[in-house]
Amino acid sequence: MTRCPIVHSAEVAALAGDPSKAEADWVANRNTTARWCAPKSRSYRRVQVGHPRMSAMNREVELQRQYVKLCDLRDFDDPIVRARIDEIVPGLDPAARQHRKNWEYAMLTLFLDDMGLIREDVEILSVGAGHEIVLFWLANRVAKVIATDIYGEGSFGEREADRTMLADPAAFAPYAYREAHLEVRHMDAKALEFPDGSFDAVFSLSSIEHFGSRADIRRAAQEMGRILRPGGGAFIATECFLGRSVLTAFVQEAFSRGTGGRLFGSDRIFTPRGLISEIVEPTGLQLVQPLEKTVSPESGANVIELLSDKRVASTGGVDHPHVVLRAKRNLGRVGIHTQRWTSVGLAMTKPFE
Ligand SMILES: C[S@@+](CC[C@H](N)C(=O)[O-])C[C@H]1O[C@@H](n2cnc3c(N)ncnc32)[C@H](O)[C@@H]1O
Repeated sequence: MTRCPIVHSAEVAALAGDPSKAEADWVANRNTTARWCAPKSRSYRRVQVGHPRMSAMNREVELQRQYVKLCDLRDFDDPIVRARIDEIVPGLDPAARQHRKNWEYAMLTLFLDDMGLIREDVEILSVGAGHEIVLFWLANRVAKVIATDIYGEGSFGEREADRTMLADPAAFAPYAYREAHLEVRHMDAKALEFPDGSFDAVFSLSSIEHFGSRADIRRAAQEMGRILRPGGGAFIATECFLGRSVLTAFVQEAFSRGTGGRLFGSDRIFTPRGLISEIVEPTGLQLVQPLEKTVSPESGANVIELLSDKRVASTGGVDHPHVVLRAKRNLGRVGIHTQRWTSVGLAMTKPFE
């Protein structure tokens, strides 16, 4: 595996036990993985990055893994991913690690690492941040993290977007963090109150699908692209159907209206094509790799089923792995379930003019 000069602390930790075995296992797994994944997207790209205050830092980086992809159970075999999850969310038992939220944290931060953006002079914006745990991990490693959300409003106002986060983020921190390095602001993703090009990195996890209509989502994507500086890194995680789906944005909106929100609610699940046209293109940013759209068959071994009244079941009868989901509803006497979906990571950069 080609190495870039950036050394990950998690990598050191992951390989500390038996470096040659851990590395060998992962390389072996990855080679197997390549047989069922789209092999052509396995060529990790070199990405041009830089820092406006440090022109000597303009350089190419080689990404260490595929980041523009669906969450796959096999990704948790990567010892570096596992170690990163354990750093960000300490105390998980091995089964609970296999959750797509943890995958989002790991893929975001490993991407930022590869881009050279985990540094003490870097400023990062989170959009639709809630009180996500990764904010505290980042605050311990970069100059500034600004978390934005419509705290106290909407259906998340008493959950992820609890208003208390504005005045007392420490109340949500699972470990000690550098409080001066995290700022929390009430802000609508559709109107980010920052000048163009003002952040080295921007990210949004499990949020853009909740921002509203197609036009709202497009507007928020544009805003994230606007406030990123050239050469900076963007990572948007959202939800994507597995395989082809006829449930385009238009059909989902119609279904949602037709069933009074019982089938999809007001949230969006994207098709692979929709990810590009509704998120990536409006950002004006470039994906750092082609989108890898397939997942291993074992990823769907335990499908999480979202039932009505917020009840949750699973096809395997267990909580984890929590990677692939579907919604299941009874419409009158007919049981109906949606196509399966999982998280997707869209890692992007802003090209230099
Ligand atoms: C599922 S939660 C995810 C929160 C957090 N990113 C996480 O991963 O735990 C979705 C978040 O999107 C936020 N949100 C919804 N509409 C928004 C908007 N217009 N502007 C900013 N945030 C919004 C919600 O308040 C909520 O915190």
